[in-house]
Parts: sequence; C-alpha cells; structure tokens
Amino acid sequence: MKEIKIALLGGGFMGKAHSLAYATAPLAAKLGVKVTKEVLVDVDPERAIDAAQSFGWNSSTTDWREVVARDDIDVIDICTPPQFHAEIALAAIAAGKHVFVEKPITNDAAEAEKITRAAAANGSVVAQVGFNYRHTSAVEFTKQLLASGRLGIPLQFRGTYLTDGGLFSMGPKAWRRSKKTGGSGTVGDIGSHVIDSAEYLFGDIVRVAARARAGRPNEGWMAESDRIAQDALESAGVWVAEFANGAIGTFAVNGYSAGRKNRLYWELDASRGSVEFNWNNREEFRVAYVDEDAQHRGSMMILTDTAHPNGVWDLAGLGVGYVDVSSIQFQKFFRRILGEEIEVPTFASATHVQHVVEAVYRAAASDAWVDVPSVEVS
Ligand SMILES: NC(=O)c1ccc[n+]([C@@H]2O[C@H](COP(=O)([O-])OP(=O)(O)OC[C@H]3O[C@@H](n4cnc5c(N)ncnc54)[C@H](O)[C@@H]3O)[C@@H](O)[C@H]2O)c1
Repeated sequence: MKEIKIALLGGGFMGKAHSLAYATAPLAAKLGVKVTKEVLVDVDPERAIDAAQSFGWNSSTTDWREVVARDDIDVIDICTPPQFHAEIALAAIAAGKHVFVEKPITNDAAEAEKITRAAAANGSVVAQVGFNYRHTSAVEFTKQLLASGRLGIPLQFRGTYLTDGGLFSMGPKAWRRSKKTGGSGTVGDIGSHVIDSAEYLFGDIVRVAARARAGRPNEGWMAESDRIAQDALESAGVWVAEFANGAIGTFAVNGYSAGRKNRLYWELDASRGSVEFNWNNREEFRVAYVDEDAQHRGSMMILTDTAHPNGVWDLAGLGVGYVDVSSIQFQKFFRRILGEEIEVPTFASATHVQHVVEAVYRAAASDAWVDVPSVEVS
C-alpha cells in the first residue's frame, strides 16, 4: 500500500478541518493509500505542540523550511494566512512535493500566476486549492446537469456569501481585518468561494462592474473616498459580471449581515431549468425543469441521495458536513496523486478566481467595467 506522508502548515481553524478530514479521506473511498499525518508546523510554538497533539500528528515544529527540505515528506498542505502561501508553495514545488493550498491561492494574482507556472513546469507535482464547497453533492450534481445539457444554455447566476463575523470581535483571526497581516478583504476571503462556485458551474467571468464598502462597527460604512485613500480592506462588495459563455451574473458578499452564518447561497437560471442552493441547507437543493407538464411546473426540493455524486454514506439522509467536503477534496487529491484525472480547483482555476477578485477591487474604485485577464500558465 502506498504511504503518503503529510506536513500541515498552520494549526489554526483550517488546520483542524484538514486534520480531521485526513483521518477519513482514504478510508471513505477505499483508496488503498496509507495517509500519515507526519508533522504539523506552526510559527507559534505553543500552538504547534497543542495542535499536533489535539489533531493527531506524529510530531510538530515551528520551521516550515526544514520540513520542506525533508526527503520523507510527500505533501505540503498550506493552511497559513494567505500572504505566506506563495513563498511556501514555490519552495515546496521546487522540492518536488505535492502541494495543497487553502484559498485564496494568494492575495496577489501575479504571485498566483508564478506558482501556477512553477507547478505546471514540474509535471510530477499534483497541486490543488481548498475551494471545498464545490465538492458538496448538490453543487457537483448541478455541474453534471449543466454539462449533460439537461438545463440547457446558462443564462444568469446570482450568488451571495453572507456572514455576521465582522460585527463581533475576531480574536486571533483578526489578521483577516488588515492588509499588512495578510487579510484578503471580504471579496478575496469569502467572495473567492462564490466566484469559484460560479466559475465551476458557468465558466470564466470576463468583465465586472462593482462597489465595495469598509465597515466601522456601529457607524455604518466609511465614506468610499476615505476607504480608497486609506486603502482599507472592504467588508462588503457587490458586483455584476459577464461570463465568457454569454451568461450574466450578480454577486454580493458581506461580513456584517446579522444572523447570517456562513451563508453561501446561489441560484442559476438556464434555458431548460433553474437550480437553487444554500450551503446552510446543503442536503437540499431546488430544481425546476422547463419541460415538465404544465400542472407540474415548479421548483422541486430534492434531498440529496446516494445517487448523487460525493456521498459519504451509502444510506441517504445522514447528512454531509464541513469536514466531509474537506475529506472529499482530499480523496480527489490522493486519487490525482495515484494518477487519475479529476476536475478539481487547480492552481490555474484559483488564479483566475484571484484575477476576478482583483478586477472587482479595481472596478469598485472606479465607475468603469474592468476586464478579467485569462491565466497565463506558460
Ligand atoms: N476553505 C475554507 O472553508 C476556509 C475556511 C477558513 C479559512 N480558510 C483559509 O485557510 C487559511 C488559514 O486560515 P485559518 O482560518 O485557519 O487561520 P488561523 O488564524 O485560524 O490559523 C492560521 C495558523 O497559521 C499559523 N501561521 C502563520 N504563519 C505561518 C507560517 N509562516 N508557517 C506556519 N504557520 C503559520 C498561525 O500561527 C495560525 O496558527 C487562509 O488562507 C484562509 O483563507 C479556508
């Protein structure tokens, strides 16, 4: 049995999710690989030790460079804040390691292009990005419906991602609030997920027009001129988009939405049907088909079943959770390491998402539509 030894960098929130997912990924898919949680790295020495013990790692350290240089490590999994992703990924690729990196791939599209090119130039390296929500059964099934033509021509996508985290103290996650500590703003942070969902389903976004606002708790939005002058990270963004396939879309993301808890929601219309998905009720999705008898035309709620992709259990109705979608993404990652070709969020697709994020920011600072560049891999 092939053994895959993992080094996980960053023992925080996502480090915990990945640690739990590694435990079930090979088992659930009967992959025939032995996944060894070899070493957990965190720059915070106490967290390194504590997270390694709590999440079941063989050892811990504070120095990622020493780990990247080790011959026995197969995978570098990067769960640090995004401003460190590119440097670590480049070193890992140069050392011939497979690389899994959390979203956003980086906070800078030029850096993202650089690591995408580096990974492409090293043919033996398998690289993947943690856009986990697209592995949900309902989302992947929607992709199949679109690919099979059952829904007809894609027409319109409406996506939102709302949370209320910005209204409260963020504790150790406060790095998210500032550019110099690697924050991505709400468009780069949660917005990147809804952009990935949109591009996974409808293909590339090619132009955007946008507005963004930075929040001051209890004072409403900052004046936009102040936000731009101070280069402040925004807490809300709205944009309209055109897709390469001719579809159009609207998007809204916001960290100040009281009562909304990690609410990734989208609906799409196509010429033969429509689909509606809400991560908060991810077992369900709604589909309407144009070709139903007139008496049956309407939006039907389907509870995901074993017939849908990416089920974890062979019994319907048991639920798919946050760790499960991470487990599914790692099953795909390991299957790719074993040589299978599977559609996943690649460095190239995640770099395109980052181009969209940056186009939204540029558009928000102007009254103009902004074109989204395509990704130059070679
Ligand atoms: N896919 C998702 O659903 C999802 C959800 C949350 C976060 N994320 C992403 O995961 C990444 C980490 O976010 P988080 O919420 O886990 O943050 P976090 O603050 O909870 O944890 C980050 C950890 O990285 C450590 N760290 C910082 N620099 C390091 C370095 N150079 N080497 C090793 N360790 C280092 C910190 O000490 C901290 O323990 C970010 O890119 C974030 O956007 C993804």
